[in-house]
Amino acid sequence: MFSLPASSRKYFVVLVVLGGDTPFSDEQLATISHTRVYHPDAQPVGKENATLVFLARNSDLDDVKTSVERMERRYNHQNRYPWVFLNEQPFTDEFMETVANMTEAQISFGLIPPEHWYQPEWIDEEKATQGRQKMHEQNIIYAESVPYRNMCRFNSGFFFKHELLQSYKYYWRPNVDYFCNIAYDPFTYMRENEKIYGWTISFYEWEPTIPTLWETTKEFMAQHPGYIHPDNAMRYLSDDGGKTYNLCHFWSNFEIADMDFWRSPAYQAYFDFLESRGGFYYERWGDAPVHSIAVALFAPKTAIHFFRDVGYRHEPFQHCPQGETYKQGSCTCKRWDNIDYRSNSCTPRFERLFYD
Ligand SMILES: *[C@@H]1O[C@H](CO)[C@@H](O)[C@H](O)[C@H]1NC(C)=O
Ligand SMILES: *[C@@H]1O[C@H](CO)[C@@H](O)[C@H](O)[C@H]1NC(C)=O
Repeated sequence: MFSLPASSRKYFVVLVVLGGDTPFSDEQLATISHTRVYHPDAQPVGKENATLVFLARNSDLDDVKTSVERMERRYNHQNRYPWVFLNEQPFTDEFMETVANMTEAQISFGLIPPEHWYQPEWIDEEKATQGRQKMHEQNIIYAESVPYRNMCRFNSGFFFKHELLQSYKYYWRPNVDYFCNIAYDPFTYMRENEKIYGWTISFYEWEPTIPTLWETTKEFMAQHPGYIHPDNAMRYLSDDGGKTYNLCHFWSNFEIADMDFWRSPAYQAYFDFLESRGGFYYERWGDAPVHSIAVALFAPKTAIHFFRDVGYRHEPFQHCPQGETYKQGSCTCKRWDNIDYRSNSCTPRFERLFYD
């Protein structure tokens, strides 16, 4: 079975209970999985099969309040798409009530199943410890954090499997600050234009966090050539036809994407392959490079969308719309503070996919 930290022992019990033969009513199941829904009868005004997803802890309440306030003000008050909050520990009443009070949309709070969150038992803990130690010596952020790794793995392979997300196709990860009014519905844009993945900020990954990710990906590609889309975006990922990874990725703090892509055989096979190598724990593979590599290889490049008109910030980077969009959106960002064409940005590589 799992080896769980002491603080999560109650989920362990929950799991054992769920594994038994006793049939539960829906009501009992809701209590067991700690799901709570506020404004259950609220109907979305927006027409898409979509939700706003937020992974958060009780201690994140202040940041969450900022995110929800911005998102409601700039976009969701007119669309009323449902929110889904997920946490590996039960949310406190204070957290749920405070956040639920900030929106008129339906808002659900759910618990992440432990097997989707905690380090699997087959991971060689000695090797994982050595990996964290090595990263610590290289002064890498979150070098020693296991929870950070849990989160990256969860965002890579599990969030879209959560019971509260099963019934949705598109999601928006709205984490933190929005500067401009969003006068149209990005979800509708995604559907009408057959987009799979939307982003605002793109830059280079820190190589020591993913030393073997690309070699592993190349092995996967060699074994499953059929999953590689003929009109892929390899030129965004590699400057030498796939031999080496240039570390470009889309920053996943903001994502508007299609969960059916993550649920597809290609992505599932890719995630399982990565998972089997243990790199989420032996190294510190991030969900941003994992998502970006997958979408660039298995989807047509035309299915990837740069949301140029969405002003967005997550410390320490921001994308601020330029030109007419800035005025039309009543944006409040500083126009000069914009990562798009700085030397650490991969946005030009993405744009070159379409004009040479
Ligand atoms: C939520 O709103 C209700 C009704 O206005 C209020 O009674 C309650 O104190 C609020 N709760 C929080 C945590 O802000
Ligand atoms: C929304 O999308 C999900 C995932 O594709 C699907 O299972 C569900 O049936 C869709 N719901 C509606 C109302 O179309």
